[in-house]
Amino acid sequence: MRNVTFVIAVTLLKGGVGKTTTSIGLGLSLGREPRVGQVLLVDADPQASATASRVALARRENQLAARRAEAGGRASAEPNRTTFDDVYPFAQCQLAFPADGDLDRGDVFTQLAEITEGRYRPTQADDGGPSRDGQAANSPVVPNVIVIDTSPAYPRILGGVLDFIASQQTALIVVPTTMSDLDIPQARQFPSVLGRSTASGVPYGVLATKVDRRRRTDLERLQALRREHPVFNTVVPYGLPFARGPFDDYARPKSPYGRVYKSVTAEAIEMLVGKWQPAEAAGDELVQATHV
Ligand SMILES: Nc1ncnc2c1ncn2[C@@H]1O[C@H](COP(=O)(O)OP(=O)(O)OP(=O)(O)O)[C@@H](O)[C@H]1O
Ligand SMILES: [Mg+2]
Repeated sequence: MRNVTFVIAVTLLKGGVGKTTTSIGLGLSLGREPRVGQVLLVDADPQASATASRVALARRENQLAARRAEAGGRASAEPNRTTFDDVYPFAQCQLAFPADGDLDRGDVFTQLAEITEGRYRPTQADDGGPSRDGQAANSPVVPNVIVIDTSPAYPRILGGVLDFIASQQTALIVVPTTMSDLDIPQARQFPSVLGRSTASGVPYGVLATKVDRRRRTDLERLQALRREHPVFNTVVPYGLPFARGPFDDYARPKSPYGRVYKSVTAEAIEMLVGKWQPAEAAGDELVQATHV
């Protein structure tokens, strides 16, 4: 996969459907794939949740290290880790711009193109907030895979992201949605949103998130979605670790959520290379995939 930039945009204009959680899960998981080189996680949301997440992850790691040391009756020997990259260097995830809400469609496109060509210098946002002063901190990155976490509102930013992925040879749109009746209609209409943009024709996959397999309505809605759209065979279950904070568990490859996102990542790669197939027995798959 080297020398080619694959672009995955995680998007739905609806809020709280798991875009950031999915972007981070995909980014970390792709970073562990031997077939994949450098992964760049792009925070294209003025809320800067993905940017904040790397600080949150580092804090969480520090807390766990301190607790382990306390339980062992010794002072913490672990160095204090302050950024996502310190904690998960293997994932090769880097944050690029926390997008500025005032950026226009063309600016977003230009910044993303700079990233692909290795001309973009990521900034270090140590406080986890948006870093807008453009202080160059890291050396340029030439990524093999770019995962773009998008914003729930700001259609101009989304427009720039969609223009950009339409300009790439290898691109995929991941559309997370919960099974809530507030979110499903947005996911169902998403392809017509794409149809109005230059991104029409880019493959996409709907990802069912926060699914409770004990709820009949969740299962029925999922089956209905599968009849209308390409839907990932892997389903992200509703889970307490996420509700407590998305960074508790899923970043670890052997944790239940680490495994779920590993499976989502494997499917995303198949989609990118045009080999993805929907599972035949979708109902059975659902039960297995959600049984974590
Ligand atoms: N599978 C899950 N089960 C339970 N809670 C989840 C799950 N996935 C995400 N969450 C929680 O739902 C909330 C929204 O998730 P997330 O921030 O990933 O969504 P988003 O689509 O990026 O939101 P926004 O539109 O604000 O950017 C977070 O509190 C997150 O911890
Ligand atoms: Mg988000």
